[in-house]
Amino acid sequence: MTKTRTDNNLIIDNVSKEFIINDNRVKVLENVNLDIKEGEFISIVGHSGCGKSTLLKMIAGLVDFTQGNVTMGQKQIRRPGTERGMIFQDHRLLPWLTVKENIAFGLYDFTKEQKEKMISEHIELVGLNTFENAYPHQLSGGMAQRAAIARALVHNPQVLLLDEPFGALDALTRIQMQNEILRIWEKEKTTMILVTHDIDEAIFLGDRVVIMSNRPATVKKIINVDLGRPRNRNSYDFSLLRGKVYSEFFGEEENNYLEYFI
Ligand SMILES: Nc1ncnc2c1ncn2[C@@H]1O[C@H](COP(=O)(O)OP(=O)(O)OP(=O)(O)O)[C@@H](O)[C@H]1O
Ligand SMILES: [Mg+2]
Repeated sequence: MTKTRTDNNLIIDNVSKEFIINDNRVKVLENVNLDIKEGEFISIVGHSGCGKSTLLKMIAGLVDFTQGNVTMGQKQIRRPGTERGMIFQDHRLLPWLTVKENIAFGLYDFTKEQKEKMISEHIELVGLNTFENAYPHQLSGGMAQRAAIARALVHNPQVLLLDEPFGALDALTRIQMQNEILRIWEKEKTTMILVTHDIDEAIFLGDRVVIMSNRPATVKKIINVDLGRPRNRNSYDFSLLRGKVYSEFFGEEENNYLEYFI
């Protein structure tokens, strides 16, 4: 299903967030600013605990913020909405429902025929044909994640928020899933915001890589990935970008170390 888009740029404007943990205020995000263009693929990397999931949950409308504003188009985001889908590290499928039923869950306001069509289109999109009647425990990790992606995409979201979606997968399945998500992105033109710990994944997928600072996290650096697609992880330009991202985390020494292998 190809979509016609209007202006749905996502603007994160000076957002801060504090949590109260055991009567202590913990500042997690501080003055985060980020403009994400409609249809863009953004990768976010940062140290564990800096606030990446919190940021995604804010965009999803699952967590409120202490200061600032998040808007999509002209609208303020204050609560969850089907135009913003979220995929978590674990698939969160309902174990007592089949793949098909999981994808159908939450699809209201459609006739039976419309639902059937939407479900089969999305099963096809993520390549799960012949597994539509399987239960989650009968799927591999990668297949369950694909079902979760289909469940999010069936609502035709303008933005898909991916919180380390491939973290639990083996290296080969992970590469396969990265290619799947790219294929879906190119077909559906959905804005993608991916949090990952995998720097290669961030560069392979993203138009831009956003590097967060330590907590309280802010946007430390944004690196444009000026590489054509499909990308070659072994190319010289890819290695240079990898070095650039690493040096943001570990300093120039790490970068020199990487240069040794180019
Ligand atoms: N609901 C909550 N209540 C209190 N504190 C929270 C809550 N959610 C997150 N935090 C705190 O906010 C900080 C950031 O958490 P968050 O999950 O956003 O980090 P992260 O960058 O996604 O880390 P990781 O890479 O390990 O997933 C942590 O210190 C955590 O303890
Ligand atoms: Mg997280």
